[in-house]
Amino acid sequence: MTSVTSGTDTNGKRDTMSGNENDSIYRLDSVTKVYGSGATAVTALEGVDLGIASGELVAIVGSSGSGKSTLLQLLGGLDRPSAGRLALGGLELGRAGDADLAAIRLRTIGFVFQQFNLIPTLTAGENVEVAAAPLGFDGATLRDRAAAMLDRVGLAGRAGHLPSELSGGEQQRVAIARALVNEPEVLLADEPTGNLDSATGEQILGLLRELWRESGMTIVLVTHDPAIAADSPRVIRLADGRIAGEDREPLAGVG
Ligand SMILES: Nc1ncnc2c1ncn2[C@@H]1O[C@H](COP(=O)(O)OP(=O)(O)O)[C@@H](O)[C@H]1O
Ligand SMILES: [Mg+2]
Repeated sequence: MTSVTSGTDTNGKRDTMSGNENDSIYRLDSVTKVYGSGATAVTALEGVDLGIASGELVAIVGSSGSGKSTLLQLLGGLDRPSAGRLALGGLELGRAGDADLAAIRLRTIGFVFQQFNLIPTLTAGENVEVAAAPLGFDGATLRDRAAAMLDRVGLAGRAGHLPSELSGGEQQRVAIARALVNEPEVLLADEPTGNLDSATGEQILGLLRELWRESGMTIVLVTHDPAIAADSPRVIRLADGRIAGEDREPLAGVG
């Protein structure tokens, strides 16, 4: 699972751009992000070096303002570094054009946000279909794909409901279905349990772990919840825009 789709293929196929299983899917070298300029400039990330292997589940933790969301936006091609190199598979995102970044966001990356970000006037099924529609499926195929994903996240039979008719946990499940409907290689989740009570948050985390285990996708999860972090195989701590430390789960059977 180390292929990264190139931005030029419009037929829904995946181009393999990198080789063996142990490859980094992400490689960051001295990544810096500065918002604004002059006296009001804010350095959100500074000199971040990081490799993420294909198939890893990584939690990013740190206090508010430490740069977690900025890092996730860079990983997702929503923004570009101000300095340094950030490669996804073989593609240097800092130098990629807008069309390539849009293609990466469409095919290679799924996003889940704290606020769910569903379109309130569309049903759950339509919210998922919207994410797959740019790939050019006909209406029946779109509906089938959306229904299958909603089924997978435990929302079979709810495709016709509006977000306002769903609980917070159910809305986040719709958002997860939307993020995964194009079978991305990377799922980026920014505080996905931040708007949920702790029991519901646990269920959402459990669902993400299950999807991670069965799919082989890479997940990068931003959280300020220490319990979530403690449960993650790899935890990266950010402070003031820098990597302040890292914990890895001991190998299975050890400790
Ligand atoms: N669009 C922006 N313009 C200016 N400053 C920003 C912007 N986004 C984030 N920041 C600043 O960058 C820093 C890191 O923010 P962020 O990445 O959102 O942190 P976190 O997600 O850890 O709370 C903060 O000081 C924040 O105020
Ligand atoms: Mg944030």
